[in-house]
Amino acid sequence: MGAEVDGAALLAALRLQVEWGADEALADAPLDRTALSAALPPAGAPFPTAGAPAATRPAASPLNRRAPAGGLLIPAAAPPAVSLAAELAAAAGSLDALREAMAGFEGSPLRETATNLVFADGVPGSGLMLIGEAPGADEDRLGRPFVGVSGRLLDRMLASVGLGRERDFYVTNILPFRPPGNRTPTDAEIALFLPFVLRHVELASPRLLVLLGGTAAKALLRSREGITRLRGRWHEVAPRGEGGGALPALATLHPAYLLRNPAAKKDAWHDLLLLRRRLDGA
Ligand code: URA
Repeated sequence: MGAEVDGAALLAALRLQVEWGADEALADAPLDRTALSAALPPAGAPFPTAGAPAATRPAASPLNRRAPAGGLLIPAAAPPAVSLAAELAAAAGSLDALREAMAGFEGSPLRETATNLVFADGVPGSGLMLIGEAPGADEDRLGRPFVGVSGRLLDRMLASVGLGRERDFYVTNILPFRPPGNRTPTDAEIALFLPFVLRHVELASPRLLVLLGGTAAKALLRSREGITRLRGRWHEVAPRGEGGGALPALATLHPAYLLRNPAAKKDAWHDLLLLRRRLDGA
């Protein structure tokens, strides 16, 4: 085969990538995503934290070291970007400081292709915190989560049980940057941003969590089960690890899924009623 560049073939390959949703150039140098994936704790494992009692903490080993400001224990074998994310998250003493730390964090190529950091919206002190997957195009443009078509559905769903974004809940995502072409976040991206999400939950200090869709449920429940099995019941999330206090977390379907599968709205309605009952103290 000759080394000549076949322009038509290159154009066809480019067209195919665009059709498949690869609409942004990421980086000149390849990224070892398998090394990043290795940083995700196994399914079912507790979040390792410095606050956990000695008996439940991971055994002291060269693989564990303490973050300077307390908080997450960082595996020394983790990729540097994951360790840095955990250190920055642990050092953030307020939601504003966390937002600033995330805005300045350069460990993810997603930051290069996104227009804005999408941190959170709603009322942090409201006691109810919703966690979605990742910003889409509208969220990326406006720098606020759930402001596009799925966000409007989310607002309507919550309004049907008497909850409004300006008063009753706080909302964020697992990823603060839009993945190019709205693709599903990779395990590596979830592992990288998880320390920020856990610190976000700690600082917002809600009474209840709602996990919107499979990505949020997988990231926070450490389960191999899919969202259709996890939804419709209360689980527990311990943002500071075992011994650090657990929060009730309701897993439910993502509004984007409901837009594609309207028949599933009856399941989402069932979940909303569970939430309403819990808020009412039943
Ligand atoms: N989907 C999400 O998961 N989050 C958003 O902010 C918007 C759409």
